[in-house]
Amino acid sequence: MNQQATDFVLEINNIEVIYNKVVQALRGLSLSVPRGQIVALLGSNGAGKSTTLKAVSGLLALEDGLLASGSVRYNGQSTAQYAPQQLVRLGLSHVMEGRRVFEDLTVEENLIASTYALTGRNTQGGQAKPDFDLVYSYFPRLFERRKGLAGYLSGGEQQMLAIGRALIAQPELILLDEPSLGLSPKLTEDIFAIIARINAERGTSMLLVEQNATVALAVAHSGYIMENGKIVIDGSAERLSQDADVREFYLGMGGGGEAKSFKDIKHYKRRKRWLS
Ligand SMILES: Nc1ncnc2c1ncn2[C@@H]1O[C@H](COP(=O)(O)OP(=O)(O)OP(=O)(O)O)[C@@H](O)[C@H]1O
Ligand SMILES: [Mg+2]
Repeated sequence: MNQQATDFVLEINNIEVIYNKVVQALRGLSLSVPRGQIVALLGSNGAGKSTTLKAVSGLLALEDGLLASGSVRYNGQSTAQYAPQQLVRLGLSHVMEGRRVFEDLTVEENLIASTYALTGRNTQGGQAKPDFDLVYSYFPRLFERRKGLAGYLSGGEQQMLAIGRALIAQPELILLDEPSLGLSPKLTEDIFAIIARINAERGTSMLLVEQNATVALAVAHSGYIMENGKIVIDGSAERLSQDADVREFYLGMGGGGEAKSFKDIKHYKRRKRWLS
């Protein structure tokens, strides 16, 4: 790859995505991920978060989605020229929403399956044993369950396995889609602690999609908030955590401390116009 000294591992510039030739999901979205950092991408249901990740990893085509305009650059190079599996080999892993694992395979077989795509990278032509220890060092629970079928793992363990499957490729950039989905607060906390450790110890950059803004901003360096296919607010994680709108709409800290939906807030439309 082009080793041009760029500070950004990922640069998304003004992209538009259209599904089935009619549904416009992204409307001029731009964001960047500085190398070695965790960037949170927040927003409510249907905002276009998963679509953004699919536009990066090349999975849009599987759903009749089209990157109609704009550009995505990974390590300074356009991703348009690469197939999804080539991007994985170049160090870009996508952990999809809903913990996709092979339920009929054991934990270890799931990890092995992930390495098949990696011939020529980190596996010495597919000969070397995959680095299970790397995955098990972050997820000791998976080591205990390594001979068990993935379908029998708990939701949290399946999420660990989904992240483990990405990790075995020793990625430079992980796209993580809602790791907290359906998990208890305790498990969410555990998984986010591991995400922060992987970033800190291995320097792995991450684009972290979440509806749970509180946990995401606790580990992220910076973040973006999107609505209706584009970014409406961005800034450092600290700034976003303190931003009045973010606190009100996404952290559930409006007025009397009770959680509020932004639909209930009268001045939302005015503010939103001002933000867009
Ligand atoms: N395969 C598809 N075909 C048609 N429309 C789609 C498809 N996938 C997503 N969309 C539409 O694109 C928009 C963005 O969807 P997306 O899944 O990116 O949102 P999201 O922010 O990830 O939401 P959630 O938080 O619910 O996962 C939505 O209006 C959705 O209905
Ligand atoms: Mg989604």
